Amino acid sequence: MADIFERLIKNYGPIGQHREHAHGYFAFPKLEGDIGGRMIFRGKEVIVWSLNNYLGLANHPDVRKADAEGAARFGLAAPMGARMMSGNSNYHEQLEKELAEFVMKEDAALLNYGYQGMSSLIDALCSRHDIIVYDAESHACIVDGLRMHAGHRYVYKHNDMADLEKQLQRATTLIEKQKAGGILVITEGVFGMAGDQGKLKEIAALKETYEFRLLVDDAHGFGTLGKTGAGAGEAQGVQDKIDLYFSTFAKSMASIGAFIGGERKIVDYIRYNIRSQIFAKSLPMPLVIGNLKRLELLRTRPELKEKLWGNARKLQSGLKAHGFDIGNTDSPVTPIYMTGGVEEATAMVMDLRENYHVFCSIVVYPVIPKGHIIYRLIPTAVHTDADIEETLRAFDETKKTLDAGKYKAASIPDMADASA
Ligand SMILES: Cc1ncc(COP(=O)(O)O)c(C=O)c1O
Repeated sequence: MADIFERLIKNYGPIGQHREHAHGYFAFPKLEGDIGGRMIFRGKEVIVWSLNNYLGLANHPDVRKADAEGAARFGLAAPMGARMMSGNSNYHEQLEKELAEFVMKEDAALLNYGYQGMSSLIDALCSRHDIIVYDAESHACIVDGLRMHAGHRYVYKHNDMADLEKQLQRATTLIEKQKAGGILVITEGVFGMAGDQGKLKEIAALKETYEFRLLVDDAHGFGTLGKTGAGAGEAQGVQDKIDLYFSTFAKSMASIGAFIGGERKIVDYIRYNIRSQIFAKSLPMPLVIGNLKRLELLRTRPELKEKLWGNARKLQSGLKAHGFDIGNTDSPVTPIYMTGGVEEATAMVMDLRENYHVFCSIVVYPVIPKGHIIYRLIPTAVHTDADIEETLRAFDETKKTLDAGKYKAASIPDMADASA
């Protein structure tokens, strides 16, 4: 018999295998100081591009005040128990009502976390006869929800409407044959790695030919897209065609929690049947109070969204003008595509952090194909022109070093915390 623990420590996984060199630097870095465009990393100030603090609410004075007051008044314990049993409050219900209005849906239900909530939502919605048709680049929370689904799931190539239609035809034929079940299409409002929007308008148009319900994870679009900030559906003029609108509070709201909005009867069904909420303690009161304040700012401070977009445009047009490939982003998410090995990528990140004081995330093999490097920059409303200009210069100079082959090395640099 194999010992499970022995097997685990033979292979720590794609990123874990580098932990001895990487822990505390390339993985599990500690950013300190007030959350903003500049923070402290290993004792030095860095320009930070890796936080989804889109509207800069993480350290907004009104938000900090509401969070502190919520904690002082209620503590972290309240309310005790699951919503259904003993953990409900007027504040939870008020937040649901305001969220529903904000995303133009009849009702909304709070979820404790986006990841868990989405997985559990898929489980709550679908029976074994139902078929789920989903985008190939769906977030892990959707993929993990699919793993709980006992019925068929058909994947379509990322944002490929011809392939989606093919999968809808397949699904429709099977459902007619089994004489049971329906179709749920799942996509994202904005794909968090590449920054491209899901083709919600085109997907909604397919409803004229095929019968299905549409669930959209708009984690990155909520608060950042659309005239009022209601997200990618609003930006594309099809918010009313989204049957279930989902977002986390972890991005533009810089908080914790999530919600699902839709038709009242369906949201009620979800309330009474979603296992991640029924069998878990309710969202703590300070978070609910803090989220009410954040939502108020989303509604009443459109200038935050404008500032975010101003910064996103400056960063993206600056990168393009310097000859960088940023793909097809149509959101603030800003990827930079480059080629190089894992060792080169880590050496470049180190140079960026140590000598240019620019801190951003990278993705390398085996998460993406060998030889490719993706940097991902998240502009926010609290970045300054100086942050953007310094970052453009840093990328310009380090890219030249990369292209000259000067980052080539036999192994990734050893940057682990001394205590790791
Ligand atoms: C598209 C998407 N869905 C869901 C989640 C998970 O949300 P949470 O952090 O609230 O668990 C994330 C990341 O945070 C995300 O990017």
